[in-house]
Amino acid sequence: MDSSHNKKLYLETWGCQMNVHDSEKASHILEGLGYEQTSDPGAADLVLLNTCMVREKAERKVYSRIGNIRNAAGRRIIGVMGCVAQAEAERVFERSPDVRLVVGTQSIGKLPELVAQLESGFHRAIDVRLSKDADFVELAPEKRRAGVVAFITITEGCDKFCSYCIVPFTRGRERSRPASSIVAEAKALASRGVKEVHLLGQNVNSYGLSGRRTSKTKDNDSEWTTFADLLDRVASESGLSRIKFTTSYPKDFTADIVNVIENHTNLCEWIHLPAQSGSDRILRMMRRGYTRRDYLDRISYIKQSTRDISITGDFIIGFPGETEDDFAQSLELAAEVEYDGLYIFNYSPRPHTPAAAFADTVPDSIKAERFARMQELQRRIQSRRYSRYLGMVVEVLVEGESARSGQDLTGHTRCQKVVNFKGGRAAVGDIVNIRVTELRANSLYGEQV
Ligand code: SAH
Ligand code: SF4
Ligand code: F3S
Repeated sequence: MDSSHNKKLYLETWGCQMNVHDSEKASHILEGLGYEQTSDPGAADLVLLNTCMVREKAERKVYSRIGNIRNAAGRRIIGVMGCVAQAEAERVFERSPDVRLVVGTQSIGKLPELVAQLESGFHRAIDVRLSKDADFVELAPEKRRAGVVAFITITEGCDKFCSYCIVPFTRGRERSRPASSIVAEAKALASRGVKEVHLLGQNVNSYGLSGRRTSKTKDNDSEWTTFADLLDRVASESGLSRIKFTTSYPKDFTADIVNVIENHTNLCEWIHLPAQSGSDRILRMMRRGYTRRDYLDRISYIKQSTRDISITGDFIIGFPGETEDDFAQSLELAAEVEYDGLYIFNYSPRPHTPAAAFADTVPDSIKAERFARMQELQRRIQSRRYSRYLGMVVEVLVEGESARSGQDLTGHTRCQKVVNFKGGRAAVGDIVNIRVTELRANSLYGEQV
């Protein structure tokens, strides 16, 4: 490939925020190699798909997408990164002979070598090594496209091995990034105009507790704190206006997290705390390590807070062996918590996971029926929860134009609700007060005051 012409990168991202953030890292590394991003796969020299395999549907989509792109892409290099790349490795080449590059979740930093191999004539390049000591790929803040909201990785990987979940296999062992490096990144982002950061990890609450060492920092234990202390440091030292974090894990969620939020106005009122099920029997089979009672204890710390903290969650419907009674307990739990938002997923058996071998499967028709019942319950709860915002003034960070009408602006509240409002005086990056005039199913609508 001629290195003097501007090479083009087309990058598509599925899955969770870790993947979104990994795509950001990959595109920065590739820009350093002379790649420019394009939104047209047909015009790209390198097509990269950053993939998810948390449910079967997400995984299947990868192969159909490769099929589409292959037709448009001709001789371009097609690469797969992310969770499917990690878990499937060489099998990606077998299933899709057009793929020439496979990049595992800890190999983003290896992109320069891998691309060089392809450019020097190798037909295929792959790196899917996982290590419990893997370093964090860090983005130089001055090179980031400073939006108003940015992600900061605090932990990578997961050690929980919930019986249904593929993530521990695709992201490797849990590692915590040294606190000083997290705080430094937060400060640098704030000084570049970022208003809000999301601290990211599969289980942020176990920050600093397990697998905290990487080979480089082995001897320096003071580099890690508890999650609550990390929040305290980022809140007091960064200069950021808003700090959010996700995902919280019920077993490791402690009351001191709520106390720290109460001590800092820049720690936002939002906790995403997935329950997965309301039945102790199912929670045990899921190996979540907490009971319904434990979960409700965490919810009560949050609800007793002096701050009005919004709670969102996840449930899995139709885990193997889930009876009508188990499911009714999930419904009851959701009704008791009254989530401000809920992600409901039909159980999907995943390779490598213990639950995939559990026999007592729930038929798709029952899953669909239970899914609809939980969705309906949540719709009612949410419209009741949202109705308290009518007429209220909420603080919104302006993030851009609303997709629906070019005239409206959009952003999030501190409690992570989407708010669209009539544009005009506000600009992207402003934090504005919006009076809510209208409630929609998953968003609020209002006017600037
Ligand atoms: N680490 C986070 C979430 C990771 S995956 C946590 O533990 O909460 C995001 C969500 O996908 C999970 O919360 C779960 O609800 C869902 N999920 C994971 N594996 C699944 C599977 N095999 N089938 C259906 N949903 C699944
Ligand atoms: Fe998956 Fe459980 Fe880890 Fe979440 S905590 S990523 S559900 S194994
Ligand atoms: Fe999907 Fe991997 Fe995230 S499986 S949800 S992209 S960690």
